[in-house]
Amino acid sequence: MQIHTPIISETDVVRPTQVVIDLGRLTSNFHAIKQYAGSSLIMPVLKANAYGHGLIPTARLMETLGADYLGVAVLEEGLLLRQAGITMPILILGGILGNQIPHFLKNNLTLTASSIDKLAQIEKAASQLSIRAKVHLKIDTGMERIGVHYYNAEAFLLEASRHKNIDIEGIFSHFANADAADLSYAQMQLQRFKDVLGIYEKKGLKLPLIRHIANSGAILQMPESHFDMVRPGILLYGIYPTKEVRKTIDVQPALTWKSRVVYFKVVKAGHPVGYGSTWQSNHNIRTVTVPVGYGDGFFRSMTGRAEVLISGKRYPVIGRIAMDQVIVNIETDSAYNDDEVVLMGMQQGEIITCEDLADWAGTIPYEILTNINTRVPRIYQ
Ligand SMILES: Cc1ncc(COP(=O)(O)O)c(C=O)c1O
Repeated sequence: MQIHTPIISETDVVRPTQVVIDLGRLTSNFHAIKQYAGSSLIMPVLKANAYGHGLIPTARLMETLGADYLGVAVLEEGLLLRQAGITMPILILGGILGNQIPHFLKNNLTLTASSIDKLAQIEKAASQLSIRAKVHLKIDTGMERIGVHYYNAEAFLLEASRHKNIDIEGIFSHFANADAADLSYAQMQLQRFKDVLGIYEKKGLKLPLIRHIANSGAILQMPESHFDMVRPGILLYGIYPTKEVRKTIDVQPALTWKSRVVYFKVVKAGHPVGYGSTWQSNHNIRTVTVPVGYGDGFFRSMTGRAEVLISGKRYPVIGRIAMDQVIVNIETDSAYNDDEVVLMGMQQGEIITCEDLADWAGTIPYEILTNINTRVPRIYQ
């Protein structure tokens, strides 16, 4: 299969700290989700730089693989995709402000309408520009975030059907707990969504073509929620949304984060290491310095817990994680300048997972992935 040219070729990259994206893994994850979702359309969610995997290359791959829609969070992400020549349908999932609407219309971006007032603003801009607006209605079934409450949806649906310059292509909601072991709250949300959809028949309104609510958790655990389209985010990238979620689809992580040794030294017993002089050894040790830090998204909060892989073995990061560099204790082992250091991913059969980093940082895999800074070059293989 022909994959688009990467934005950065390996030969152009001089920084040893890199994120390597396995396009084959992204491809097989996409196919696994597609097969499980049956006849439902697929909207890969590419917000926050495609969860750190690179917005444009990931979008190009998804286009090649036959994704039906792309989902992003904010207008600028949609504009970047259009500027890169992506022509497929794009839904901006987040809230909108009036002054943004003309940009949606001029760039054929699908709007999320989350109130009667937003609908009126979209109608006004669409009529002024003589461009029909493509809209998905957002129903709040239990997140208390954007969207019209399920119990107020009737007036919203009726109002939406009256606008002359708006095509209501879709209607959607979002789960708060579909990745939990206990699905009772998610089942309640699903029932509320179904009740809202029932209004169409009750009022004799035309049902929108695309009904959607399933994120990764719901794709995995609630096939009854797949409707006309599913919206996989983290699962597409090969990571499960929680530890407890049922892994009904087999996916593999697509992202490896690695660097290289840039310095070796022996640190004497009692000589403190790093900012704040918070760590020292009671015996002589060998250390290496690796050019990655919290300025790259290697969170400072992992200090005292983080490990890295060198020659297939785990070694602890010692001293405080700095903005651009970390120090690794290799005790009595040997490592040399230019040796590969894996921060996240596999090396010689040993693995550091995204979940490991999340545990060390006291966060979730989503935050680890989306915080790998853009100064870290992405390599596509
Ligand atoms: C509206 C919406 N749909 C789908 C997703 C994808 O979620 P996940 O990464 O859990 O699949 C998100 C991300 O939070 C979202 O905000």
